[in-house]
Amino acid sequence: MRKPIIAGNWKMNLTAKEAKDFAETVKNKIPSNKEVDSVVGAPALFLETLVNEAKGTELQISAQNCYFENSGAFTGETSPYALADLGVDYVIIGHSERREYFHETDEEINKKAKAIFDNGMLPILCCGETLDTYEAGQTSEWIEDQINKDLAGLSKEQVANMVIAYEPIWAIGTGKSADAKIADEICGVVRKKVANLFDEDTAEKVRIQYGGSVKPENIAEYMAKENVDGALVGGASLKADSFLDLVKAAK
Ligand code: PGA
Repeated sequence: MRKPIIAGNWKMNLTAKEAKDFAETVKNKIPSNKEVDSVVGAPALFLETLVNEAKGTELQISAQNCYFENSGAFTGETSPYALADLGVDYVIIGHSERREYFHETDEEINKKAKAIFDNGMLPILCCGETLDTYEAGQTSEWIEDQINKDLAGLSKEQVANMVIAYEPIWAIGTGKSADAKIADEICGVVRKKVANLFDEDTAEKVRIQYGGSVKPENIAEYMAKENVDGALVGGASLKADSFLDLVKAAK
């Protein structure tokens, strides 16, 4: 049985005070992490505050990106070593916004995944197709290719412990969610690809989220599906009450 995992992706939103208020509100109200992992993915600026707030509670903290080197002359980048040292649990990598606006390649995403594991954290790896690819009926091939490149050289144990988020780009922030049947089907494609690249046991263990316009009102439909183990949630994760509703609905 895979444990559900709900991760908020705040993107470039909120202030340090709002982040602190959010954590103060949710940290003692979320369900036990024996039932569901509740993760907040925040801008790097607020991670220290959030890690401190979350100490001794069930709330887990994720960065939204990091570099693949631990230190050096990389102006403006965030070190995975420093994130781990702070007590960050997860790092979101390969989000479509990073791929599109910041030109991140699968090769870089793969290096980031390795650096995150090397520092004792877990990646939440995003994959997803554009509307054109979806309408051309090429979603499966597209996703398989991303997974193939992004997971290259990782061990079975690493992949079994990580999280993969299927996020159709046409459903992100558009209010147009992929229906639960499509989400289940493509999360199943991801799982099958993991089985082909690694083995059945690894595929059974890896947790796969759906992301794209998930809200408290529709999360149950996704969670009911066999291949969907959780959600990566943008807009609906910004308010404490809404985040609490999401994690409660997922347990
Ligand atoms: P959304 O974003 O829930 O606002 O659609 C999801 C994401 O980009 O992770």
